[in-house]
Amino acid sequence: MSTDSRRRAAKLYYATRDGQSRHIAEHISRRLAASGIVATPQNLAAAPVSAAELAQASVVVLVAAVRYGRHLHEADRFLASYASLQSPPPLALASVNLTARKPAKATATGNGYLRKAIARHRLAPALAVAFAGRLDYPSYGWLDRQIIRFIMLLTRGPTDPSTCVEYTSWPAVDEFAARIAELPRGS
Ligand SMILES: Cc1cc2nc3c(=O)[nH]c(=O)nc-3n(C[C@H](O)[C@H](O)[C@H](O)COP(=O)(O)O)c2cc1C
Repeated sequence: MSTDSRRRAAKLYYATRDGQSRHIAEHISRRLAASGIVATPQNLAAAPVSAAELAQASVVVLVAAVRYGRHLHEADRFLASYASLQSPPPLALASVNLTARKPAKATATGNGYLRKAIARHRLAPALAVAFAGRLDYPSYGWLDRQIIRFIMLLTRGPTDPSTCVEYTSWPAVDEFAARIAELPRGS
């Protein structure tokens, strides 16, 4: 058996409602595959993950969307499980939200959602980044559309209800994946 095949697997999870976090997780998965790391994206809403499963991973990656000021509840539960581990594998955490469309709000310290999640669960992620998500007014229900338009008004973003923009910086996602590939992994 080669050293690589004896290695514990990298685990890649996502929490999404509108699909952008899944796209980002799939992109990361393809980039990791190009570095010889197999990590199949798993939807946390489809199957919750046990702390025991997480403990066996060499690296844990989470891509989690924000809605109404918080990461999706399945991502929050996941982080609570991860935080309960005695000796956790390295964590690479990516938050997906619209606030991160401003470069100063794309870092672990600059992005409030990421900063609060890290503090709430007392995490020490090896990597933490916020990616800008997607704004798609026509696909939102009336109330969600008005609320997001109001947030955009406050943060000087587009308020035209026909707007559909993907803000995600794919080069930034590539860089995140490259840094995951460089993380020391358990044997
Ligand atoms: C109902 C709703 C609430 C949202 N709340 C926030 C928010 O509080 N802060 C923020 O920065 N982005 C917010 N967003 C933007 C989403 O984070 C963004 O659209 C992201 O791409 C969603 O990820 P997903 O496609 O994986 O679900 C919200 C979007 C929707 C539709």
